Order: sequence, then C-alpha cells, then structure tokens
Amino acid sequence: MVSPVATLPARPPFSLRARILTPLAAGGVRWEPDAVLEVDRSGRIASIAPSGAEPPGTESAVDVRPWVLLPGMVDLHAHLPQIPNAGLGAGLALLTWLDRYIFPLERQWSDPAVAVRLAPLAFGAFAAAGTTTTLLYGTVFAASLEAAFHAAEAHGIRAVIGKVMMDRVTYDESIDRAAILDRSLRESVELCERWHGRDEGRLRYAFTPRFAVSCTAEMLRESAAAARAAGAYWQTHVAEDRGEIAEVLRLFPEARDYVDVYDRAEGLGRRTVLAHAIHLSDRELDRLVETDTRVAHCPASNLFLASGVMPLARYLEAGLAVGLGSDVAAGPDLSIFGAMRVGAYTQNALRVVGGDSRPTLGPLEWLRMGTLDGARVLGIDDEIGSLEPGKAADLIAVDASVTAPIAGADADEPAALMSRLIFRAHPNMVRAAWVRGRALPGPE
Ligand code: GUN
Ligand code: ZN
Repeated sequence: MVSPVATLPARPPFSLRARILTPLAAGGVRWEPDAVLEVDRSGRIASIAPSGAEPPGTESAVDVRPWVLLPGMVDLHAHLPQIPNAGLGAGLALLTWLDRYIFPLERQWSDPAVAVRLAPLAFGAFAAAGTTTTLLYGTVFAASLEAAFHAAEAHGIRAVIGKVMMDRVTYDESIDRAAILDRSLRESVELCERWHGRDEGRLRYAFTPRFAVSCTAEMLRESAAAARAAGAYWQTHVAEDRGEIAEVLRLFPEARDYVDVYDRAEGLGRRTVLAHAIHLSDRELDRLVETDTRVAHCPASNLFLASGVMPLARYLEAGLAVGLGSDVAAGPDLSIFGAMRVGAYTQNALRVVGGDSRPTLGPLEWLRMGTLDGARVLGIDDEIGSLEPGKAADLIAVDASVTAPIAGADADEPAALMSRLIFRAHPNMVRAAWVRGRALPGPE
C-alpha cells in the first residue's frame, strides 16, 4: 500500500486530518469534509472534530487529505486456502466447481508449509482491499489452521477462522474414516481453546462444518454444541445452488427443507453465520429471523458460479440480519467494494427482470452493510463497524481521486463519493488500513 504521505502512522496514538465518512450506530451517516480523527494510546477513537475545532494536542495531525477515512470493511465469508484460484471456474455448478477447482487446492494445505507461505500473503491482500475484519474458512487440516492463526496474529487483522469439518465427503485421503468425527471435533475444540479470544478478542474461532452435503447430522449437531459450549461462532453454507439443495434433501429425507437440517442440529441462533441463503422459502426465511440467525450475502460469488440471485430486499423487509462476504474464491474479488457493486447490479436486475418492486439500496446503505451491519452480524458492533468515539480505530484511508473518470471530476458529496468507490473501485484506492490504530501490512 504505497503512500505519498511519508509519515503515515503505524501505531497509536496519532491523529489524522482527512475527509471522513461513516455510518452511525444511531442511524444515518456522518460526513466531514475536513476533520481530525484522534486515536488514543490504546487504539481507540478518542475524538472526531471538524478541522479548526479539534481538541488540544491534535494540531500536529498527519494530513492525508483528500483521502477519505472509512471504517474498515467486514468480510463475513471467505475461504483462506482458495485465494490462489480467485477468478477461475466461472459459470460452473457448485458441486462440480468444488470437485474440480477447490478440493485439490485445499488438499495442498495438508503440508503446513503451504499455509505458512500463503496465509500472510492472503491477509496482506485482504488489508489492501480495505478489509480489516474477516470471517474465514480454513481447510480440514488442523496444522494449517494453526499456521493461519499465527499469520493473522502477526499481521494484525481481526479474524474469525475455523477448521473445515467434513465427515461424509472429504478430500483428506489420509484420514481414518471411522475416527473422522471424533478427530475433527477434538481438533476443532483444541484450536478453539487456543485461539478463541486471543489478543483481547481480535482473533476468534468459528466451528465450521462445511455444509450439509459433506457432514452427517451428528457432525452438525456436535459442532453446534461445541460452539455453544465455547461461546464461539458456528458457520456453514446454506441454499446456494439448486443441485446442492437437491442433494441435501436427498441426504436428509427427514428434514422439511435445507434450513431445517441445521435447525434439527440446533445450529441456528445469533452466533451462527450462514453463507449465501439464496434460495429460501418463506418458512426458511421466517425461521432464520425467528432464531436471530445471521447471513453472509456474497453477490459476486452468486453470479460468478451459476448459483442464483438473492432476493435481498425481501430478506431485509423480513428483518434478516445480513452483512457482506467476498466468498473468495467462488467470488473472484477480495474486495467488499466489489461485493457491493455486484450486489447493486443484482438488485437492479431483480427489479427489471424478476419483477421485485421493493426499493434497492443506495451507496450509503451499501457502506453500512459492508461495515456496521457486518459487525452486527458478528455481535461486535459495540467495538467496530463505524468511526465513533470509544470504538476501536479499525479504519481505512481511501484515495478516491483514482475513481474519478477524468481529472477534475472528483465527487465531494458523500453519496456520490461512495458511489464512485463502489462502481468505479480501483485496485489501489485503499492506501492504508489500521486495526486498533496499528497499521496492517499489505501484500509485500
Ligand atoms: N459450499 C461448500 N463449500 C463451498 C465453498 O468452498 N465455496 C462455496 N461458494 N460454497 C461452498
Ligand atoms: Zn463459501
């Protein structure tokens, strides 16, 4: 992340003079065309004040104008080992794509040295894309998760990670099939004990049964119970692809529908994040809302693979808690700005082709979904997700000038500025990212 400013602060305390745009916990946004954001010694936002009215001691703020400070993006769904394949396999059906492109790739992480090499690069790439919080899937190999957590710890990103659990279909050729459930649970519990809550909650654990196609009912139930016992997250995929749904209904004939498979496993609730949820019946939607289960919306993935179109407006109207995910590598782009863009196009298509007349989201609503709503999904919105005094200084500095179509046509009004960041996102527009006021390295 190259900076024209020689002295970008690497550690707290510091103050930045910049443009500032953030959603607010109370609703709406705050837009400051010229303000000073002060980060205290502990890495929290101490104050945000219009320039000229800044508190004493912050006059020496590092001036990064015309860059704009935003809260760091929250990516609620990505697969760490899949990043090398990003952009490959468009248009395939999910189950074909997994067999052809993904399981062979994840199998390479049976050698922990592969994880040791790739995980730091991956975290650097997420930070360069503006993501400061990630909810990730690893692989089935425990040693690779250990390496991933160590890499996240050293990098500084906020990360929730889980070892993938698969006891019905797996790509681990070395495993003793009779012992697979016990071993997967034991290794997951051990990883959770070691990493959940590390560095004052910056690193957390998510029990991660891959999806109902690859897990027995027992695996789903036991992993959900272990997550509950540890106060950790539980994540899996749901209703992504028509072929997948048919397979789940074949494997679980006793279930009323896909969501019911997870309901019977006692997997629904406020610590659960389900990826995709594209094809939900009204009953399934109501049940997710009723149980306060949360969803990672991954629009770029949904159209990269031939998965489908999420009826987002219908879900939001029903009160579903939704944030955004890149779903790399089914999503080709690590950027949550990219997820916003494809999400917006998807909603437009749904309106003109799908006949959905509900309102679509505007740029500032996409900003909220990619930041504060994502933090809410994870239950950490008291800590991150917006730039407000008292919250952790998880933020990014964005150079919007590279999104202008021609010199001099810069946007200087918040919705227009955000619209440019979404629809004309530039790969190098994020110039710096901080978590708790500590600068995150890019992909060196
Ligand atoms: N369903 C089960 N595994 C996966 C995966 O790796 N990616 C996506 N997009 N869907 C899945
Ligand atoms: Zn996924």
